[in-house]
Amino acid sequence: MRKNIVAGNWKMNTTVPEGVQLAKDVNDAVAAVNDLKCDVVVGVPFTHLTAVKAVLEGGKVLLSAENCADHDKGAYTGEVSAPMVASTGADYVILGHSERRGYYNETIEMLKTKVDLALAAGLKVIFCCGESLDERKAGTHFEVIKNELVGSLFHLDDKAFANIVIAYEPIWAIGTGETATADQAEEIHAFIRNLVAEKYGAQVADDTTILYGGSCKPSNAAELFAKPDIDGGLIGGASLKAADFMGIVTAF
Ligand code: 13P
Repeated sequence: MRKNIVAGNWKMNTTVPEGVQLAKDVNDAVAAVNDLKCDVVVGVPFTHLTAVKAVLEGGKVLLSAENCADHDKGAYTGEVSAPMVASTGADYVILGHSERRGYYNETIEMLKTKVDLALAAGLKVIFCCGESLDERKAGTHFEVIKNELVGSLFHLDDKAFANIVIAYEPIWAIGTGETATADQAEEIHAFIRNLVAEKYGAQVADDTTILYGGSCKPSNAAELFAKPDIDGGLIGGASLKAADFMGIVTAF
C-alpha cells in the first residue's frame, strides 16, 4: 500500500530560530491529530537540519533536506553531501526541483548521480518533475516529464526505486497562486504511474507515492487529494505557516 505524504519545502526561508519555532509548531500540531492519514515531512535548509531534527526527535514528523551535492566528498567548497545530510538524522532529500534545474543548471544526468548518492547514503528521495508554461502550451509536457523521470530514475532496480517519492510540480503553478486543476494534475499523475508500471510493473506503480506541488493550499488540497493518483502534496509557501500547513495535512 502506498503512503500518503504531505511534505513542506521551506526553500530559502526562515532563520534557524524561526525555523526551529516553525518546526515546533508543526510537530505539536501533528502530535495533536488523532487519526493522521498521511506522513508529514518538513524540508528545510541545510543550516537548519540538526536543530530541527532535535525538535522532531520522538515525534511523527519526518525531516528532509532540499538538495545534496553530486559528489560524495572532497574539494567542493560550499557543497553538502548526501552522507552529511543523512548524518543529521534526515530521512529524505528533495531532488530535481525546478528552481534547482532552472537557476543552478542541474541536468538530468547530474540528478541521476545525486539520486544514486542519496540512496547510497540511506536517504529517501522526493524527486520533482514538471513542465514550464511554454512546454505545456507546445504540448510537450508529457515528453518533458517522461525524459526527467526516465533519465534520472529509471536506471534504479525495484528495491532502490521503492525509496523514491515522485512530486509533479508544474512550473507555471509554483508560487504563482495558479494551481493546476485537480483534473489537470490527475491526468499527469496517472501518466506518471503508467510510466512506472511500464518500467517496474503494476505492483510497484501502485505502491509509488506521487505528490502534487504548485500553489497547493488548505482551500484546494482536499479536491486534489481526492483524485485516485494524487497521494499528497509538496508544499512551498503554505508550509511556512503552521496553521496553513496543517490545513493541508488534515485535508485527507
Ligand atoms: P508553492 O506551494 O509556493 O507554489 O511551491 C511549490 C513548490 O515548489 C514546492 O516544492
